[in-house]
Amino acid sequence: MKKEDVSFSREAADMLDKIAAIWPPIIRQGKKDKILFLLNLLARARKIKKADTVLVVEAARLVVPKSYDPLFHMFEDMEGFKKRMLEPFVSEAAYNKIPVRVRRWPRQRPRKKAAFQKCKNILAVCASPRSRGNTDMLIDEALRGAADAGAHTEKIMLHKINMGYCIGCRKCKEQGYEKICVINDDMTEIYQKIIDADALVIGFPIYTGRECAQLSTFLDRWDGYERYMLTSMLKPGRTALVIGTWGYPCIDTYDHVIENIISILNLHKVETVEALSACGFEGIRHGLDEKRMGVIRRHPEQLKKAYAAGRALAKY
Ligand SMILES: Cc1cc2nc3c(=O)[nH]c(=O)nc-3n(C[C@H](O)[C@H](O)[C@H](O)COP(=O)(O)O)c2cc1C
Repeated sequence: MKKEDVSFSREAADMLDKIAAIWPPIIRQGKKDKILFLLNLLARARKIKKADTVLVVEAARLVVPKSYDPLFHMFEDMEGFKKRMLEPFVSEAAYNKIPVRVRRWPRQRPRKKAAFQKCKNILAVCASPRSRGNTDMLIDEALRGAADAGAHTEKIMLHKINMGYCIGCRKCKEQGYEKICVINDDMTEIYQKIIDADALVIGFPIYTGRECAQLSTFLDRWDGYERYMLTSMLKPGRTALVIGTWGYPCIDTYDHVIENIISILNLHKVETVEALSACGFEGIRHGLDEKRMGVIRRHPEQLKKAYAAGRALAKY
């Protein structure tokens, strides 16, 4: 350590080692260096001479995404963590008590106050392979809100369509190429539906800390809109509602994944004006009830937020 660097209490040093030990050696030192760098900045700014465990965790939290929540919750209270996380996998009562929550992200953009509003054409895409699961139900509720506000709505279930992976041929980037993509599958029709849509609803579950593969594949295929010399076939003007759902019962653990999807849509000039995070879909029946439908249907107060977001989307 350098002379001007902060010193550590024994507990703080142990905590840093414990955190660093989660990574394999090939990335461990790099991560540790970043944590130490931020820790020293924080200590200097606050005139702290000796780091405690709280400062170590704070610095580590700045280095890793929120999806490391479970790890920090484990470090803070292993027994409590086990009880909260494992009991719902073996006990019906604990499963029914999982805090199922939906958060509607704060609106950043005022809605139009025009006297006449065009009837919007809204296309929803459900990336969850579970029909009538939580993502699907949240989408339906948003579409119900949009329809009540006068929109025309349609939903596509990605797991039911014939959609191939992007094959990286880059034909779409060739001068004079007229189709959107060489692959002859259901995306041919969906490309046009996206072009015809005024707004999109994109709902997806988190799988392994990121968006599920169905959504990844779908968005890779959007690259077909990007043409020769970086021109785009999608003109600006479309808006979107993005919905992310997950198991871990913390309402912001995977918000960064939703942000990533919002950024990808933004590359295609689609402006996300509404977003929903939804959590608590894990345990003995993995977020489903005895009829294999999403447990979200037992939470009308939470569903209301999807309805409101869909209604607002139709009015932007
Ligand atoms: C393959 C797989 C991986 C998952 N990985 C995570 C995860 O990393 N973190 C998490 O909180 N939930 C995870 N889950 C739980 C799902 O995100 C959760 O059950 C989702 O909200 C289900 O949505 P649905 O009911 O619409 O299918 C995973 C589920 C599956 C099937």
